[in-house]
Amino acid sequence: MDYRVTSATVEQTREWGKQLGGCLRGGDVVALIGDLGAGKTAFAQGVGEAFCVKGPMTSPTFTLIHEYLGQIKGTEVRLVHMDLYRLNHPEEAEVIGVEDAFQEDAVCLIEWPQIIEDFLPEDRLIVEILGSGEQPREIIFRGDERTWEQRLKNIEYEKARRIR
Ligand SMILES: Nc1ncnc2c1ncn2[C@@H]1O[C@H](COP(=O)(O)OP(=O)(O)OP(=O)(O)O)[C@@H](O)[C@H]1O
Ligand SMILES: [Mg+2]
Repeated sequence: MDYRVTSATVEQTREWGKQLGGCLRGGDVVALIGDLGAGKTAFAQGVGEAFCVKGPMTSPTFTLIHEYLGQIKGTEVRLVHMDLYRLNHPEEAEVIGVEDAFQEDAVCLIEWPQIIEDFLPEDRLIVEILGSGEQPREIIFRGDERTWEQRLKNIEYEKARRIR
């Protein structure tokens, strides 16, 4: 299943993140793919908004993992935001506790997830952001149809074009 939406501004990218956030629940893992400066962190901030996360969500570029407390329909949930750009080996992911975040009480957003591709849960959703700089972005949601078709039904598809 692929859905493709477009974003002309950083605010729109955050808004798409917020819309996705409204579809997520504990246990979900979202892999954020895109070039440097594509807007992965901006998208993650939008998810945080949907979860009513307090305080600014900053890039975990240097710290690797940031954890926030959020809410989904009044129930507390951890929002774990990672950036694995600086990892060189999948084993390092184990050391920093990446898999601890794959729990039912947490939603996990992973920038630069490629290095742990083999450890990602099968039901992960991939969000790929194409474009960078001042270019408009294309944002593609890609996940297993049986899980995600239904889960993403509340995204405003009149704005989104289903491509496959
Ligand atoms: N349509 C757009 N969507 C998202 N960001 C945009 C857009 N247009 C311009 N920008 C700019 O692109 C930058 C995106 O930065 P962001 O930190 O979110 O990228 P990133 O993908 O997380 O990069 P990195 O791989 O370095 O972590 C911001 O400076 C933002 O203002
Ligand atoms: Mg980032």
